[in-house]
Amino acid sequence: MSPSSNNIARARAHSNIAFIKYWGNRDHSLRLPANSSLSMNLKDLHTTTTLEWLGAAGADFLEINGAPADPGALDRVSAHLDVIRRRFGMQSAARVSSTNNFPMGTGIASSASAFAALSLAATSALGVDLRERELSALARLGSGSAARSIPSGFVEWRAGDAHETSYAETFVQANHWDLVDVIAVVSRRHKHIGSSAGHLEADSSVLQSARVASVEGRLSAVKAAIASRDFEAFADIVEEDSNLMHAVMMTSKPPLFYWDPLSLRVMQAVRNWRAADGLRVCYTLDAGPNVHCICEAGDAAAVKANLRDLSADVEILQSSAGPGACVLPRVSV
Ligand code: PMV
Repeated sequence: MSPSSNNIARARAHSNIAFIKYWGNRDHSLRLPANSSLSMNLKDLHTTTTLEWLGAAGADFLEINGAPADPGALDRVSAHLDVIRRRFGMQSAARVSSTNNFPMGTGIASSASAFAALSLAATSALGVDLRERELSALARLGSGSAARSIPSGFVEWRAGDAHETSYAETFVQANHWDLVDVIAVVSRRHKHIGSSAGHLEADSSVLQSARVASVEGRLSAVKAAIASRDFEAFADIVEEDSNLMHAVMMTSKPPLFYWDPLSLRVMQAVRNWRAADGLRVCYTLDAGPNVHCICEAGDAAAVKANLRDLSADVEILQSSAGPGACVLPRVSV
């Protein structure tokens, strides 16, 4: 991660899918999570961001996929740039241009890859070369899961108890296990309640304390399953952890129901393919209705064929495990 010069830099970061979920914060302003989490970076779903510090105070400018961003997105990016301005004692406005290589509006969260790429581009354009853990902690302030898009491969975010101790690190590299995320896009609608608002509600569920109290056991078990590439053990824990997070969401006040009827059909089908047909696949869902079907590369074609047979309404995206955030050769904004 070498820094750039001339106040401009281009960086890329990949989205990630969590196997042990982050849900709820112990400190909302610092985004210190209620629990540690573990994810896999997604090689084929990424955000590329070019950032230029303009050298004078003023309004930031943000473009996403070639069009000016809506005010909400700009406010969130500017708030993150404020953190960076305060940290490095400068006031310059920035021009930011960001592109996602995955289709916008498919309900695939882009905040992890977006804030990881933004943090790396912003610091690189300052000529600053942060250590990986510092960059991960910085990205966390923009979006919690962005902390996990900085290191490469399979990544663990230790919750920590202060800004400096809450960062993510590689658990094993991407080539350790050829897992694939086959994403069943069952709905293109945007989240009615985004994850930042959802985290604020997590403690209103009586189930959150039980989920958090038991998460270290699942984290150890999923790490052991990944280390030994034990898919059967992995599948049971990943599904349980996703179900637990959604149980918390559904019992929060007000309740959050992220699943669509088709999400549940896919989840039940995945369990049936595993139990009845011996197809090694399991599911996990984030704060949305799309079902991430996790399998080994050799089974991805069968999983995709089964999904197509199940419903013509399912659009499919796919990614294997991928690298961490990196600086790219510079181009003008
Ligand atoms: O980083 P956020 O605030 O978008 O939270 C992500 C929360 C989940 O995607 C639902 C779970 C996770 O660990 O990625």
